Formats: sequence, structure tokens, C-alpha cells
Amino acid sequence: MKKKILVTGGAGFIGTHTVVELRHAGYEAVVLDNLCNSSPKSLERVRELTGGVEVPFCRADIRDREALDALFSQHQFEACIHFAGLKSVGESVAKPWEYYENNIVGTLTLLDVMRRHGCKNIIFSSSATVYGDPLQIPITEECPKGQCTNPYGWTKSMLEQILTDMQVADPEWNVVLLRYFNPIGAHPSGRIGENPNGIPNNLMPYITQVAIGKRECLGVFGDDYDTSDGTGVRDYIHVVDLAVGHVKALEAISRRCGLAVYNLGTGHGYSVLEVVHAFEEANHLKIPYVIKPRRAGDVAQCYSDPSKAERELGWKAQYGIFEMCRDSWNWQKNNPDGYGD
Ligand code: NAD
Ligand code: WQD
Repeated sequence: MKKKILVTGGAGFIGTHTVVELRHAGYEAVVLDNLCNSSPKSLERVRELTGGVEVPFCRADIRDREALDALFSQHQFEACIHFAGLKSVGESVAKPWEYYENNIVGTLTLLDVMRRHGCKNIIFSSSATVYGDPLQIPITEECPKGQCTNPYGWTKSMLEQILTDMQVADPEWNVVLLRYFNPIGAHPSGRIGENPNGIPNNLMPYITQVAIGKRECLGVFGDDYDTSDGTGVRDYIHVVDLAVGHVKALEAISRRCGLAVYNLGTGHGYSVLEVVHAFEEANHLKIPYVIKPRRAGDVAQCYSDPSKAERELGWKAQYGIFEMCRDSWNWQKNNPDGYGD
């Protein structure tokens, strides 16, 4: 029998790509999402990419204990991959209560329902943001966590602590904390991808919206950092590689890994201008940009040492910056208005 995995937030950017990879790897994925930042059409596309079988979907909120209870009574889940959460850094500064309530109360509710139903295996979407201004570069998992610069980051840092404490108190739990670096790209088919509302906060969606003519010009936030060309350096990772990382993490859970923490990145840092030039080369386009002041809360450099994931999970990113730029643009140009709703 196929193992059943609950994917919270499975209609979103990383969730949809992960459901595709789970299905390819022979798992049955059940998606729970309240659609506050996604479209139900994304799951129709996932179905199309994975042989036409409908994706079981429950439209519900992770804070809705009754809905979770009903879902766990209906299905015997092997594990939960927990993506559901609010993720906009700037919005979290303006609405801290909403972020803490959605992300923390939601996750606490989910964890309680899980343990009551005897499902104690979870993969949690964490972020490189928990390292704050990193004490070492490249960043290994041993690098101490730092001061986050916004409430969103604190929700990730606090939830890591909560999950760690629960696993220590009850070793029946298997908890994998995956710290993503900067996920970009899209499925190479161009059928699923990132669909931000309003003005994008992140670099790659901004670039693709300039390329398609929705925005005039990219603002580059600072050119006076201590980096090769003065612009900020990040570890961009193709979303399909990231998705595969979750399948590998499920294998670790089935080996009863206890508590495990992994960086998911490529280990390569690219500056903002290097990304702009890579995008131009990959897609034969010109991206106009202007230098702007630094953005509050940004660090100069953030890139991973991803060797622990390779050693212990047998996972390594397969795609490079060229494919990330190609696939981001392929998605944007084929879906200028996202899923069109
Ligand atoms: P996304 O917004 O596309 O997906 C999150 C999904 O969760 C959405 O479909 C949304 O509707 C759903 N959701 C939010 N709150 C919910 C709730 N209370 N109940 C049910 N569903 C809810 O974001 P994403 O980029 O796919 O990110 C997935 C996860 O990875 C998030 O937890 C995010 O914080 C984390 N993460 C993302 C990045 C990134 O740059 N994209 C980096 C590090 C970590
Ligand atoms: C990348 C680089 C910017 C936009 C964020 C979150 C982090 C994680 C991933 C969830 C930086 C520069 C950006 C623009 C620019 N998310 N930039 N012009 O800030 O590294 O990480 O997303 O967990 O928590 O903080 O990603 O894509 O916003 O920025 O110059 O219009 O591009 O200054 O150097 P960031 P980003």
C-alpha cells in the first residue's frame, strides 16, 4: 500500500512542486490548505503533471482543530510535510499578531491533533532566516541561530524550538527541520510556479515581472555591501531540487531519525547583479535596474554548506542558476497572470 502523507500548504509554491515529486516517488499526498495565498487551480495542474489522478484536497485552516481531527480520522497518515504558513517578511513587520497567530497557533494545533492520532512524524519548512546575520559563511547546521530581523523569521525560529522540545520530551517523534535558502525557479513544464500577490518582495519574481513588462525597472537594494560587486549574495535553489529534498527527508523519517536539521541550498552564492546577468543570458532579455538604498534587515551574504544533506540524505541540488532563471521565466511567460484567478 502507498504511504499517505499530509501536505499542509500543499497548494502553494513549494507545496505543489513537492506533491509532484511525492507522487512520482510513489507516495499518496493529501493536501490541506485554506487557499489564503494560493489557487485551487494549482492542484489541477499537479494532477495534469502526475498522470491525471485527482489530488485529494481538504480546504481548511491549520487552526481549525475540528477539521484536522476529521481529516486524521479519515486517513492514516505516515507523516506530515508542514508548509502552511504566512511568509511575507514585510507584512509580518506590519502584522506581527497575525503572523504569530497563524504560524504558531496553527502549528501547535496541528501538532496536538497529530499526536492524538498517533502520527508523530513531521517535516517542517524552516528557513535560513533563523541564522540571522550568520556567524560563519558558508553556513553549516552547527552555526548558532541568530537574531531574526522580523516576526516572520521569529515564527520559524520559535517553531524550530517548539518542535525540538517536543521531540526531546517524546522520542517517538521524528522531526526534520529543513532550512531552505532562497527557493526560485519553477517546474520545467511551465505549468506550476510562484504566484505572488501584488508587488513582489523577492528578487526573482520581481525580475520576471520586469521581463514581462508589469514593472518598469528592478531596484537593486544596495551596492555597498562587502561582496564581490557590492550587492547582496544569496544561495538560490531550484524549487524542484527543494521538493526532492522533502522526499529524501521522508526516507530519513522512515529510518527513525529522531531530530534532524538540514540546510537545503546549493552551496553557491550569487550576487543580485550576477542573478540579473544570468537571467539575461539564459533568456536573451534585458533587465533594466537602478541601484537603491539597502533594504532594512538584509544581510550582506547568506549561503549554505549543504554537505550534511548530501552525506545523510543522499540529496544534492541538481539544477544551477541557468535552469533556475530559465524555468522562472518559462513559468512567468506562459502564465503572465499566474493561475488566472
Ligand atoms: P506559499 O504561500 O506559496 O504556500 C504556503 C501555503 O500555505 C499557501 O498555499 C497558503 O494558502 C497556505 N496557508 C497559509 N496559512 C494557512 C493556514 N492557516 N491554514 C492552511 N493553509 C495555510 O509559500 P511557499 O513559498 O510555498 O512556502 C512554503 C513554506 O516554506 C512556508 O512555511 C514558508 O514560510 C517556508 N519557506 C519559504 C521560503 C520561500 O522563499 N518561498 C523560504 C523559506 C521557507
Ligand atoms: C534576495 C536579494 C535583496 C528584491 C527572503 C526572506 C527569507 C526567505 C527567502 C522565507 C537580497 C535583493 C530583492 C528586489 C533586490 N523566505 N533584492 N531587489 O531577503 O534573501 O530572503 O526570502 O523564509 O526569510 O527574508 O530574498 O529574494 O527578497 O532578496 O535587490 O526587488 O535580492 O536585497 O540581497 P531574501 P529576496
